[in-house]
Amino acid sequence: MGFATDCIHAGQEPDPSTGAITIPIFQTSTYVQEGIGKHKGYEYARTHNPTRRALEKNLAALEGGTDAYCYASGMAATNAVLTLVKGGERVVVSDNVYGGTHRLFTKILGRYGVEFAFLEASDAAAFDARAGHFAMLWIETPTNPLMKVCDIRALAETAHSRGAILVVDNTFMSPFFQRPLSLGADIVVHSTTKFLNGHSDSVGGVAVVKDPAHADWLRYVQNAAGAILSPFDAWLVLRGTKTLALRMPKHEENGRQVAEFLRAQAKVRKVYWPGFPDHPGHQVHKRQASGFGSMIAFDLGGLDAAKAMLSRVRLCSLGESLGGIETLISHPATMTHAGYTQPERDALGILDGLVRISVGCEDVADLIADLTSALEAV
Ligand SMILES: Cc1ncc(COP(=O)(O)O)c(C=O)c1O
Repeated sequence: MGFATDCIHAGQEPDPSTGAITIPIFQTSTYVQEGIGKHKGYEYARTHNPTRRALEKNLAALEGGTDAYCYASGMAATNAVLTLVKGGERVVVSDNVYGGTHRLFTKILGRYGVEFAFLEASDAAAFDARAGHFAMLWIETPTNPLMKVCDIRALAETAHSRGAILVVDNTFMSPFFQRPLSLGADIVVHSTTKFLNGHSDSVGGVAVVKDPAHADWLRYVQNAAGAILSPFDAWLVLRGTKTLALRMPKHEENGRQVAEFLRAQAKVRKVYWPGFPDHPGHQVHKRQASGFGSMIAFDLGGLDAAKAMLSRVRLCSLGESLGGIETLISHPATMTHAGYTQPERDALGILDGLVRISVGCEDVADLIADLTSALEAV
């Protein structure tokens, strides 16, 4: 089936008891059994829930995986995937990943003997030469917030040459634009909170796999550690993915117009958007993705300028998160990337004047009018 058909139908049969076309919210903690060991495949809702399972099948189809497991947040999905690594092993991470990912790796998982190295990964050959040995390579592409592009196919080869696996956080692109498993990645992670749900009303995460051994382990961890996605959240994300193929082209078209508008403003020093032909990695991104998305970062030159602008936006909502149908605007240094220290942010180029915008699906003229007025405050 085509992608849009899978968005609407994959994993979702009409409910056998009523014919309801929409999968019900199975809001139950347990299932009545006919006798000891005699049941319909459902024993306890941490282990199995039909609404969650429908979403997992839907997301596995959209990413081209063999299976998927949903967790209570993107971070819970990330944490579950990291249990594939043991103490004493090394994980290499592309630099300027989401601040929460950096915090989980350095402040929590590092305490259990896993070594984390954050390396620049946009030059795949240079990365291969200096990455050393590792058990897992974790990347975002484009990265959050500087939109650095990593070559998924080349990095998969680098990982596999070391007997390691490649995990791609595909939150920014969604499977509509980029399907890392088809390029050699082993696992894809999403914060479903973002484009997959798309309506800013649910927090969740998913890990999509292709290797049955990874599926077995992540299913085991989902039940054993228990950070499951609730039935209602699963239902909301299913409702979201139904319109993914409609929303993403609109996000991108609006994103392009906003990126071009920002680039033409004298007060904006630099705009980071992979759709610009002179954006580093533009060609690699074009090869591995079918679009550029609507995540844009831009530098206003200093904290005061960023503060002035962000206090003046009206239609664009100042807030953490991204990927909603509403335009969200944020300040990475104090919000999403506050988990990095100031010297770490300075080294990465996450400057105090940097603003990130997740362009939504409003009328773009209204967004540009709002940004024009907000920039007057700078
Ligand atoms: C790229 C990326 N990955 C993971 C996460 C974490 O997801 P969640 O907030 O659902 O835990 C985020 C959150 O902003 C993100 O931007």
